[in-house]
Amino acid sequence: MKILVAGGAGYIGSVCVEQLVERGHDVVVVDNLSRGHRQAVHPDAWLEIGDLSDVAFLQRVFSATKFDAVMHFCAASLVGESVSDPLPYYGNNLTNGFNLVRTMLDHGVKHFVFSSTAALFGEPRSVPIDESAIKDPTNPYGRTKLFFEGFLNDCDAAYGLKSICLRYFNAAGASEKFGEDHDPETHLIPIILQVAAGQREKVMIFGDDYATPDGTCVRDYIHVLDLAEAHILALDYLRGENISDQFNLGNGKGYSVLEVVAAVESVTDREILIQMAPRRRGDPAVLVAASEKAREILSWNPTRGSLKQIITSAWQWMDNHRAGYQG
Ligand SMILES: NC(=O)c1ccc[n+]([C@@H]2O[C@H](COP(=O)([O-])OP(=O)(O)OC[C@H]3O[C@@H](n4cnc5c(N)ncnc54)[C@H](O)[C@@H]3O)[C@@H](O)[C@H]2O)c1
Repeated sequence: MKILVAGGAGYIGSVCVEQLVERGHDVVVVDNLSRGHRQAVHPDAWLEIGDLSDVAFLQRVFSATKFDAVMHFCAASLVGESVSDPLPYYGNNLTNGFNLVRTMLDHGVKHFVFSSTAALFGEPRSVPIDESAIKDPTNPYGRTKLFFEGFLNDCDAAYGLKSICLRYFNAAGASEKFGEDHDPETHLIPIILQVAAGQREKVMIFGDDYATPDGTCVRDYIHVLDLAEAHILALDYLRGENISDQFNLGNGKGYSVLEVVAAVESVTDREILIQMAPRRRGDPAVLVAASEKAREILSWNPTRGSLKQIITSAWQWMDNHRAGYQG
C-alpha cells in the first residue's frame, strides 16, 4: 500500500513508519520537523518537509502519489502549554488537521488513522477506562482531540471517510533504531532516564497525596512497538471492513510514578534523585486503559507490556543516542 504518514519524523510516527516499511509498504512522510527529526525517518521512506497549514504543499504531495491511506500523528501536544497558549493548539490540531482531511478527500483518499489520546476522557469516573467512558477533557489539548474525533464522524456521514481513532495512553520505549527525543521532554520515562544518564539533576514528582497505594499518580505505559502494531492492524481493518471506529490503547495495568522511578533504578543500576512538588492542576490520580475492544476487534495483542521491557528498550536507545538524534 502507499501510505502518507503525517508526523512520521516524530516519536510514535517514526516507529510506525519503520514497521510499515518493514512490512513492504511505500511510505511518504510529511513533517515540518518542528518537533521531529530528519534522522528519525526510515531511509526507505520518502520525506516531504512541509507544514499542514500549507494547502498548496499538501495538494502537491497528494497530486504526486495516489495514496491508499493516511496516518495522522501531527499535533501540538504539551498539555500545560495548551492551557497557557491554546491558540496554536486549536490551529495545529484542528485547522491544520482539517486541511489534511480536505486534501485527502479532494484526491479520493478515504482511509484515515488518527492519533487520539486518553486526555479526551479527563478525570475518569472509574478505571479501567473503556471506549464508552464519559469524555470530558480538562485541557485544550484534550478538547482539540475530542473535537477532531467528532469531525471525523461527520466526515464519515457526509463524505464516506472511514477513520480509526486510536486513543493512546502513555507511549513509551523504543525500537532498536527509533526512540523518543522531545525538546522540551515532558514524558516521565525519558525524564527519569535523563537523570540516570546524568543529563538532568532530579525528577520532580507532582503530588504524593493521591488516593493510590504510594500516593503518586498511576499511569498506563504502552510500548511504542505495540502501538505501531495497533496502527498496522487498524489499517488492515479499515481496508477490509471499511468502517470507522475508536479504540483505547494501553496495557491495562497501571504503574505509579515511584514504581517507574524504582524500575529505572533497577534497569540502569543508578540512583535517581527525586523531589516532591505540589500536585499539578488537572492531573487525574489514575489513568488505566481497558483495551479489550482493540484486542477483540483488531486482534491486537501487545507483547511488550512489562515496565522493565519498556524501560530497557528506551535506555538502550538513549545509550546509542547520547545526544538524541543529534548524537
Ligand atoms: N507520546 C504520547 O504518549 C502520546 C499519547 C497520546 C497521544 N499522542 C498523540 O500521538 C501523536 C504523536 O505523538 P508524538 O509523541 O510522536 O509527538 P511528536 O511531537 O514526537 O510527533 C509529531 C510530529 O508531527 C510534526 N508536526 C507537528 N505539527 C505539524 C504540522 N503542522 N505540519 C507538519 N508536521 C507537523 C512534528 O514535527 C513531529 O515530528 C500526537 O498527535 C499526540 O497528540 C501521543
